[in-house]
Amino acid sequence: MDQIALMRERHSVRKYLSRPIEEEKAEQLKAKIAECNEKGNLHIQFCPDAGKTFDKVLNKVMGLGSAPSVIACIGEEDGSLEERIGYYGEQIVLFAQELGLNTCWAGTFNRRNVPAKIGEKEQLVIVIAVGYGANQGKQHRSKEPEKVIVSGGEKPQWFNCGVEMALLAPTALNQQKFQIGLKEDGTVSFHDQGGLFSKVDLGIVKYHFEVGAEYGKLQDVSSQR
Ligand SMILES: Cc1cc2nc3c(=O)[nH]c(=O)nc-3n(C[C@H](O)[C@H](O)[C@H](O)COP(=O)(O)O)c2cc1C
Repeated sequence: MDQIALMRERHSVRKYLSRPIEEEKAEQLKAKIAECNEKGNLHIQFCPDAGKTFDKVLNKVMGLGSAPSVIACIGEEDGSLEERIGYYGEQIVLFAQELGLNTCWAGTFNRRNVPAKIGEKEQLVIVIAVGYGANQGKQHRSKEPEKVIVSGGEKPQWFNCGVEMALLAPTALNQQKFQIGLKEDGTVSFHDQGGLFSKVDLGIVKYHFEVGAEYGKLQDVSSQR
């Protein structure tokens, strides 16, 4: 399935069935994670048994305690770690969606209980709950495109498609604290307005924007034929 359809379908899911992820799907997920680790110089790990990762009080209130498995997002800090985790982690999230699984990025979890290997120089930034959802989640409330576009004036279709997909991106607390601009030379700029995990959000948003913009450009080409 294409990335646009997956982005439209994906919603955070906080209630899971006890059904474990089949070995074959787990292998596919691990292969995708290995590919992202290679590209992003990361050490993201799939943990089939989430154990007590989600035993925080907030997890009990908000859900996630039922997630059978977890993806631990780990890497070495170089000033870009959180953004890289967002950019590549979201590709893993969308791949999980393609496998028929559900996910939820989670900044609230018990660090001591994550069953992953964290190297000496590495940091565990965030986790992603993964499994078969008891539901498919629902569409989040979203800002209007005008609220996240910084530069004024008419925008090309590819840019607007990018923004549309960026607004479908998951963000911590659904804060959508990002802005996107288009310079006269056609360069796109992203601005982080701060907030909890806003750098992870920005990485996720950049990936969504890229997919949307690419799709918009293809549509431009086919409409010119
Ligand atoms: C960086 C990040 C951290 C998040 N942390 C949590 C969390 O701790 N608990 C939770 O239930 N949801 C968490 N979420 C999920 C967001 O609440 C969710 O993405 C947002 O409400 C938008 O909804 P959607 O994912 O269904 O589009 C997080 C999302 C992101 C991107």
